[in-house]
Amino acid sequence: MTMKRAIRVAVTGAAGQIGYSLLFRIASGSMFGMDQPVILQLLEIPVEKAMKALEGVAMELDDCAFPLLHGMVLTDDPRKAFDGANWCLLVGSKPRGPGMERADLLQENGKIFVEQGRVIDEVAAEDVRVVVVGNPANTNCMIAARSARRLPAERFSAMVRLDQNRAQTQLAKKAGVLVSEVTEIYIYGNHSPTMFPAFGHAKIGGRPAVEVIGDRGWLEGEFCEVVGKRGAAIIAARGASSAASAANALVDHVRDLCTPGKVHSIAVKSNGAYGFHPDVWAGLPVRTTTPGSYEVVLGFEMDDFARKKLEVTNRELVEEMETVKAMLG
Ligand code: NAD
Ligand code: LMR
Repeated sequence: MTMKRAIRVAVTGAAGQIGYSLLFRIASGSMFGMDQPVILQLLEIPVEKAMKALEGVAMELDDCAFPLLHGMVLTDDPRKAFDGANWCLLVGSKPRGPGMERADLLQENGKIFVEQGRVIDEVAAEDVRVVVVGNPANTNCMIAARSARRLPAERFSAMVRLDQNRAQTQLAKKAGVLVSEVTEIYIYGNHSPTMFPAFGHAKIGGRPAVEVIGDRGWLEGEFCEVVGKRGAAIIAARGASSAASAANALVDHVRDLCTPGKVHSIAVKSNGAYGFHPDVWAGLPVRTTTPGSYEVVLGFEMDDFARKKLEVTNRELVEEMETVKAMLG
């Protein structure tokens, strides 16, 4: 296999929980492919404990002797972390605790994305793609994109893939089939309990999921509720927010965004698709066109139930946008 030139991948919050699962997947080739070397540019906060922990993670990465890992930069300076980066994976921020909603983190975490959006715009590679994981992910992504002057909005996406994966598994369990049998389940709206996993278009074994499941009450009720509140259920069970599954979802998000023809859920500037406010970042089904680029898949029919769900999640995104108005460039 011919090796490509190494790409620079910046990861923020690299010494955190998600970072600890994520970095090894990137360095092993799961995210960008087995012929794509990477240079990891790892950002943490300027606090001794965080930087020391980051050093430890880097030592472990060294100890894996990953052939695709062509270098590492450890820094507490965003300019160094994002310098020449082809991908910026923005994980670093505070997770919520029990009893909180993700939107409760807006004021504290939002500020991080104002600065990071600006610095990425100034120093990252010309072809940079930015993915926001830190919560509330959709609105943080909007904040980062609005801080940019050079980079177009399409370069910024937020992660709703964990929700898609969760929905896929719930449908498979209910139908008693393998997850690979469940296809075309996409997430619309906010990465919050209002998100809409659009079961109406999903297929199980190639047949409409609604027919296979045969229980619309479950799909409209428990299914949406379990998927929407899965993050809180993980926090209640683990005492900490999801990390390995979040890292795995980010691998899926980026890998599919690098694979032309793939249809998958990411949160992007809606531009009015499916009735969303044009300026919010909403989970939508997209088709990857060229590596790192996409088109929104339009034309899925929405029934009354679906339309109401879209209205609710759109309203929440608009409210979040209003809350952070002062942070928007
Ligand atoms: P964590 O607290 O374990 O790690 C976060 C790390 O980020 C810490 O090491 C911290 O020092 C660092 N950090 C904080 N501010 C930073 C900054 N300005 N620059 C660089 N680094 C910074 O948290 P975690 O479990 O890894 O979760 C990280 C974020 O991801 C949280 O906001 C969490 O809610 C979110 N999350 C999102 C999804 C999703 O599906 N979108 C899923 C899981 C978690
Ligand atoms: C999740 O969905 O697991 C994450 O967004 C963490 C959280 O706060 O729920």
